[in-house]
Amino acid sequence: MTRPKVFVARRIPESGLNAMAAHCDLDVWPEQLPPAPDELRRRVADCSGLVSLLTDRVDAALLEAAPKLKVVSNFAVGFNNIDVPACTARGVRVGNTPGVLTDATADIAVSLLLAAARRLPDSAADAKAGHWLTWEPLGWMGQDLVGRTLGIVGMGRIGFATAKRLHGGWGMKVLYTARAAKPDADRDLGARRVELDELLAQSDYVSVHADLNPTTKGLFGAAQFAQMKRSAVFVNTSRGPLVDQTALAAALRNGTIFAAGLDVTDPEPLVPSHELYGLPNCLIVPHIASATPDTRNAMARLCANNLIAGVKGEPLPHCVNPV
Ligand code: GLV
Repeated sequence: MTRPKVFVARRIPESGLNAMAAHCDLDVWPEQLPPAPDELRRRVADCSGLVSLLTDRVDAALLEAAPKLKVVSNFAVGFNNIDVPACTARGVRVGNTPGVLTDATADIAVSLLLAAARRLPDSAADAKAGHWLTWEPLGWMGQDLVGRTLGIVGMGRIGFATAKRLHGGWGMKVLYTARAAKPDADRDLGARRVELDELLAQSDYVSVHADLNPTTKGLFGAAQFAQMKRSAVFVNTSRGPLVDQTALAAALRNGTIFAAGLDVTDPEPLVPSHELYGLPNCLIVPHIASATPDTRNAMARLCANNLIAGVKGEPLPHCVNPV
């Protein structure tokens, strides 16, 4: 029996590659950078499976070039790189990797929040540059955390895990926005669902966990930063395009808000000359939220399970467009 052909758009952990190789013939893109769109189209032309990353655009043109494609298994929980309706229209199932990266991502959200609140990047840079002249009674003042108010924008799995850490560890009060009420958050964290305007006005910390879709693109602009407290810290571990970065830079430069911590930008990578890097109150890390070996291995296994099920025509363990 012929084995299904699968294109894997980057080297992912061996645990996933080995699992897929037991069932399929793999063509693994060997480069560090993603294949260009025309190369991706060429590679999937006779494939029944594709393992994509958030940097690989899966759109109608790609689907057109891949008539045998049965499954796109995204090595990510987010899937805004994929035109899901176009996949559904062609009967192509789309898989993602929810759950297994929740804790690692919440850890990065909390890390960014703490680091930005307590000015770790600029104080560390000052120490290294020889600007640490003595113990400074009035220097490097940050923001307190205990008992402050946390605003979670998008109370899904990762929002909940972030709030749980900050409520449990620092006694933060939790406000949140979500498409529907979250009884677990209300019961376990004493959280309260509010409108975004109220969340922005009341929160000392605003952490973004909403997915990127047409209703969330550009959700944070000048008007939203103006509604926030001048002492507020803004954290984004979801997707860069939720934020108008020009407005964020102005808010950080003018003291409209206190600081920001970003795991995601628009575009990625953000060019080193971007003005956000020049602001001492902005901490940017290169989309590392799921970057631990255990998490990436778990993502690889789940991604492989989705892929294998898809090429066999079976239901995917995690499918964003089930039949
Ligand atoms: C990373 O951003 C993911 O969606 O898994």
